[in-house]
Amino acid sequence: VFSQIARAPEDPILGVTVAYNKDSDTSKLNLGVGAYRTEEGKPLVLNVVRQAEQKLVNDPSRVKEYLPIVGLADFNKGSAKLIFGADSPAIQENRVTTVQCLSGTGSLRVGGEFLAKHYYEKTVYIPSPTWGNHPKIFTLAGLSVKTYRYYDPATRGLDFQGLLEDLGNAPTGAIVLLHACAHNPTGVDPTLDQWEQIRKLMRSKGLLPFFDSAYQGFASGSLDADAQSVRMFVADGGECFAAQSYAKNMGLYGERVGALSIVCKTADVASRVESQLKLVIRPMYSSPPLHGASIVATILKDSNLYNEWTVELKAMADRIISMRKQLLEALQARGTPGDWTHIIKQIGMFTFTGLNAEQVAFMTREYHIYMTSDGRISMAGLSSKTVPHLADAMHAAVTR
Ligand code: LMR
Repeated sequence: VFSQIARAPEDPILGVTVAYNKDSDTSKLNLGVGAYRTEEGKPLVLNVVRQAEQKLVNDPSRVKEYLPIVGLADFNKGSAKLIFGADSPAIQENRVTTVQCLSGTGSLRVGGEFLAKHYYEKTVYIPSPTWGNHPKIFTLAGLSVKTYRYYDPATRGLDFQGLLEDLGNAPTGAIVLLHACAHNPTGVDPTLDQWEQIRKLMRSKGLLPFFDSAYQGFASGSLDADAQSVRMFVADGGECFAAQSYAKNMGLYGERVGALSIVCKTADVASRVESQLKLVIRPMYSSPPLHGASIVATILKDSNLYNEWTVELKAMADRIISMRKQLLEALQARGTPGDWTHIIKQIGMFTFTGLNAEQVAFMTREYHIYMTSDGRISMAGLSSKTVPHLADAMHAAVTR
């Protein structure tokens, strides 16, 4: 019965790894997926994660029972504090409901389905461009997806006027997806002053903020600085959605651990919202997995582990920042035509190089460098050893 089925294309991001794995060239380099690598090009398990796992293994009271539908209580509490700040009035007033979900994607999906079911405005505005999974997640959740201007290719920076215009023209109540920091794929973030203008506009129009926070601590190295945008929206007392992922900042990619928080106007509303979130989650995957959330909860609760985590996180962020400098210098040393300073101006895991699909294909073909066709490179996949190879490839791509 399936003989007529058409072959689906590979995922634009994860498919890059599939192609990379098939390449037998020894100089091959995977700068596609946003996954941190060490200077030796190896995946990194954080030392605090190893310690937390050891603690969990050594605790004989631990069992493998089902978690509640909303997940591990300590994990949820710690996650809300992490993103909104330990002294957040919204938390103190019990106006926040937090549910453990399957990383950022699962959190966005659960939030999207809740909104499709219970919110009067079914349109979500996402930035152009955005992470390729966003439109698919929200469409399948039952929302209608529109875009707002975000990136200006001419300046390789923020199209702030375009953004304000598009959000200004959005219908009252529309949902707006915002990247909390380290915008993916562009690495371009609004300044704090611009965030404040966005907040004012959105609140005056009753637009509903839905933050995707996939890189807290990864952009600047500071957990607080990278949550500033979210906290500005929560401080004004209005409603706010936040999807958190621990894939990058704790290196828990495959554990699929994240959280959805919904900030409501009152504690009573928050508890009713939570009751409805349970009805979204139960038929979707019943309850979330235990292991990853236990690791996170262990680290967030233990001040020694927490402090150690911030040090390891900063080291990852600093290594990425140093890769930016090294790549820029390597291009300047080669006299590569064009202004490449956006490499050090953009922040987070990615550089949006400005290379086009044809140049990317050339780099893959001739230099075995794998990246997404929009010209995004994962700086976290680069090392001092591989910078010259990438710079050679970029130079050849733009001068050919
Ligand atoms: C990325 O954009 O590379 C990451 O967020 C990984 C993913 O799932 O796409």
